[in-house]
Amino acid sequence: MTPTAFPQRILLGVTGGIAAYKSAELVRRLRDAGAEVQVVMTDAATAFITPMTLQALSGRPVRSGLMDPQAEAAMGHIELARWAECILIAPASADFLARLAHGLANDLLSTLCLASEAPLFLAPAMNRVMWQHPATRANCALLASRGATLLGPAEGGQACGETGLGRMLEPNDLVRALATPPIRADLRGLTVLITAGPTREPLDPVRFLTNRSSGKMGYAVAHAAQAAGARVILVSGPVHLDPPPGVTCLRVERAEEMRAAVMAQVDGADVFIATAAVADYRPAAQATGKIKKTDGALSLILEPTPDILAEVAALPQRPFTVGFAAETERMAEYAEDKRRRKNLDLIAANRVDDRGMGFDSDDNALTVFWEGGSQALPRQPKTRLAVALVELIAEHLHRSRAAPDQP
Ligand code: C5P
Repeated sequence: MTPTAFPQRILLGVTGGIAAYKSAELVRRLRDAGAEVQVVMTDAATAFITPMTLQALSGRPVRSGLMDPQAEAAMGHIELARWAECILIAPASADFLARLAHGLANDLLSTLCLASEAPLFLAPAMNRVMWQHPATRANCALLASRGATLLGPAEGGQACGETGLGRMLEPNDLVRALATPPIRADLRGLTVLITAGPTREPLDPVRFLTNRSSGKMGYAVAHAAQAAGARVILVSGPVHLDPPPGVTCLRVERAEEMRAAVMAQVDGADVFIATAAVADYRPAAQATGKIKKTDGALSLILEPTPDILAEVAALPQRPFTVGFAAETERMAEYAEDKRRRKNLDLIAANRVDDRGMGFDSDDNALTVFWEGGSQALPRQPKTRLAVALVELIAEHLHRSRAAPDQP
């Protein structure tokens, strides 16, 4: 088996909470997994665990002050932000999540988070009422929408004597979450064209129709296809995500623009994966000036947008074509019907009414259908789900190329 990939340089942020005592064990486990660990503590964290302990375990001086001339003379905070291959904040207190959500940079750790482009993992730990508070919920949702990955919290007994959601995940669980499984798919020499995100269909110069798609699934699929060795072209609607390094990203807004970008690229593509939540309808006419408010009701006339996926699947020299289906009911039946109607090789279906799954969330579950078969991919983070999906696509692609007449 291929060894599991693990980040080599981890910046571990420790903030003020009783779970900070677990950070000592976490440093050991991260080092056991082969990573260099640089600990950065907030002032509050030093009241729960000493820098000396974490320094001894990490083998590197612990950093905490933003204005420390000695530390800045060695590896300054910007260099440290660049050094990190990933940032893990464990425990992440409610206060720290709030500061992060608002982009504050009033201590070294928050500054580093703002100054780094490395993936950010947050392991919240707090009292269950603080965790459920709408302010914390909103901060977490905002951070997740910007690409941060929330790990936990877990449910169980808390230091405050209560029981509920708010415990920091155990060090071993955190180490497992940072490891990305190696991809068992070979797409070297192939081009994969992917659509992702929502589209925006303008009503007038300031308003548009859109949907809740975050683009996370499509971007994760792009990342996985690239990890499998493919050349990846991502045609993306407006999202708050950075494309994976090395992926060609073409940004569009309207369905018509997405269609044009896809049609311009599809000739050289071996695989087309349509993860985008393309608007099905657009205003029949776009007002040139802002539509004025009146007392009466306003009727909009909508017309269908081009079905990009169906158009690609109908090409005489078409790539291996994969669609998505977001359904709120009778998932298998509707997805299979869509696969046949649009003439797709595979369709990946998900239910969008389950709590915490589907649109704009980090987790998802899919059932993939093809002619004569299906496979369920269980609930997991979208990054992992994308790996499983790309493995399945590669398997079917290679099978169809080996025996072109077989389904
Ligand atoms: O028909 P429905 O919109 O449910 O189909 C969903 C699938 O079709 C997704 O893969 C989506 O990316 C694709 N699609 C498209 N162009 C459209 C509508 C949907 O490519 N106008």
